[in-house]
Amino acid sequence: MKSFVGWAASRPSHAGLKGEITPPADKSISHRSLILNSLAEGTAQISNFLPAEDCLSTLSCLQSLGVKIERNGGEVSITGAGKKGFEAPAKTLDAGNSGTTMRLMTGLLSACRFTSTITGDESLRSRPMGRVIEPLSLMGASISAQGNKAPLTITGEDLHGINYRLPVASAQVKSAILLAALSAKGKTVIEEPIASRDHTERMLRAMGANLKSEGLIITLTPSSANLRPLNLRVPGDISSAAFWMVAGAIHPDARIRISNVGTNPTRNGIIEVLQSMGAGIIIENHRAEGEEPVAELTIESSSLKGIEIGEDIIPRIIDEIPVIAVAASVARGKTTIRGASELRVKESDRISTTVAELSKLGARIEELPDGMVIHGVAKLIGSRCESHGDHRLAMSLAVAGLIARGETIISSAEAVNISYPGFWDDLEKITND
Ligand code: S3P
Repeated sequence: MKSFVGWAASRPSHAGLKGEITPPADKSISHRSLILNSLAEGTAQISNFLPAEDCLSTLSCLQSLGVKIERNGGEVSITGAGKKGFEAPAKTLDAGNSGTTMRLMTGLLSACRFTSTITGDESLRSRPMGRVIEPLSLMGASISAQGNKAPLTITGEDLHGINYRLPVASAQVKSAILLAALSAKGKTVIEEPIASRDHTERMLRAMGANLKSEGLIITLTPSSANLRPLNLRVPGDISSAAFWMVAGAIHPDARIRISNVGTNPTRNGIIEVLQSMGAGIIIENHRAEGEEPVAELTIESSSLKGIEIGEDIIPRIIDEIPVIAVAASVARGKTTIRGASELRVKESDRISTTVAELSKLGARIEELPDGMVIHGVAKLIGSRCESHGDHRLAMSLAVAGLIARGETIISSAEAVNISYPGFWDDLEKITND
């Protein structure tokens, strides 16, 4: 197990958080930029691609299927195989830590007429895959897995469209079905319980797919034509920006400008939550980056209060809940988060790991089956804590460490490389600007 000193007592607690951060590229959009373009006919140029471990897992899985991809930092050139051009991989595909890679690739592989196996690291092998196996099997794919966990062995078949109501609001499951539906016979209709991120739908439409979204219902009518390649510039990731938004709001002397942040309405719940807690956030320069809205955000030190967070907003803040818990730990009064049992099947069980680790820092936080209750305290106390190999927990603890009294040591801190390899450098930058 590696150890990393994330933050140290040597920094005076009055040191301000000032300056500008450009967050890394959006992870969800980076995965999709590769997967969807791999199905297109022709070459696409992607800029500001996220070269973090999760997206590199997607990249190498696609290369193993014969897709031509050249990458230089965040600049990627990808030549699609077309729906029928993938080659059987010579070895087991490795999705690493990435649920998005595994679930979306399983959708794509369900329509490929060969057998392939996809696996992942220990965390990913413990996560539920029945949620993709069920609908893809209903479409005609043959998928075997022990206990509905990876490794998954997929034999692609001639698929048919389905009408399917998602049992959980999951963009990964929705996207896996849509990828399979592109090659199916007949239309596929998906109903979501609550809207989840819609990057796949936006990109598919821009690539020429016949896809309609009406409220919570998405209809894809497949065509024999291949998708058109889509050149794109990936916007900054609001889930990565969230760490600086919370840091700015809870630090006593902060003003942080965060540039090029994706503000897709299915992802921007963190802005709403922090504003309801009383945070001062200025949103400027709204614009479109391809299919996605983008803006600049400025966050200032704020006096936060506790709020009630219920299930309707959960899909829009699903990845930000650990850092929202940090904000709530030092807010006035009580914050309740409910309807978030999906957190239990993320990279770690984020309800129990967030509660355990923030408790070590002096937070008053209790676990609920589907969320947590947090009573704000005046000060967090620096301590030894661990990331549980979970990138978002590592970064949330670093934000807590920024305002804690004394030294915080986070072990397995290299987990940040999953989504934000420059996190520790940006933390240095913002504390020294
Ligand atoms: C993602 C969807 C979400 C999210 C994950 C990325 C995606 O997962 O938590 O980090 O890129 O589609 P679910 O679809 O399982 O909710």
